[in-house]
Amino acid sequence: MTWKDKKVMIGSDHAGFDLKIQVIEYLKEKNIDYEDMGTYSKDSCNYSEIGLDLAEKVVKDDVRGILICGTGLGMSIAANKVKGARATLCYSDFSATMSRRHNDSNVLCLGARTTEPGIVMLLVKIWLDTEFDGDRHQQRIDIIHDYEEKHKK
Ligand code: RB5
Repeated sequence: MTWKDKKVMIGSDHAGFDLKIQVIEYLKEKNIDYEDMGTYSKDSCNYSEIGLDLAEKVVKDDVRGILICGTGLGMSIAANKVKGARATLCYSDFSATMSRRHNDSNVLCLGARTTEPGIVMLLVKIWLDTEFDGDRHQQRIDIIHDYEEKHKK
């Protein structure tokens, strides 16, 4: 299955809720298969629970994930605790492009309170549409995977 055919798991906390709805609208418009893993209201909740659950699912099913909180920071910290998750906080078109081309990002993290509103949907589009370059970049990712294997508990 190619990158562009993979399902998208999407999640947010309360701070990312409104932006998540906008991203879901975009996914629907583009006929991209997605699943909303919560939160389902603007009531205060823990970004860490949603971030960990979503990253587990992304790694287990080899799909894609988008996580949104206030800054994107908490979500990226949580998601990157999961072995095999490569969660990247993207904030510009260049970082979104490189997160895919060089880091093979499988989880896009966004900050709803920190990302320039005019570019946030562009970041989603770029991340969804950009393939991994592979080659020397795979070798660098393999070093991280080897580390995860050696240090698994
Ligand atoms: C929630 O207030 C906020 O702390 C959360 O959305 C996120 O920014 C954490 O990193």
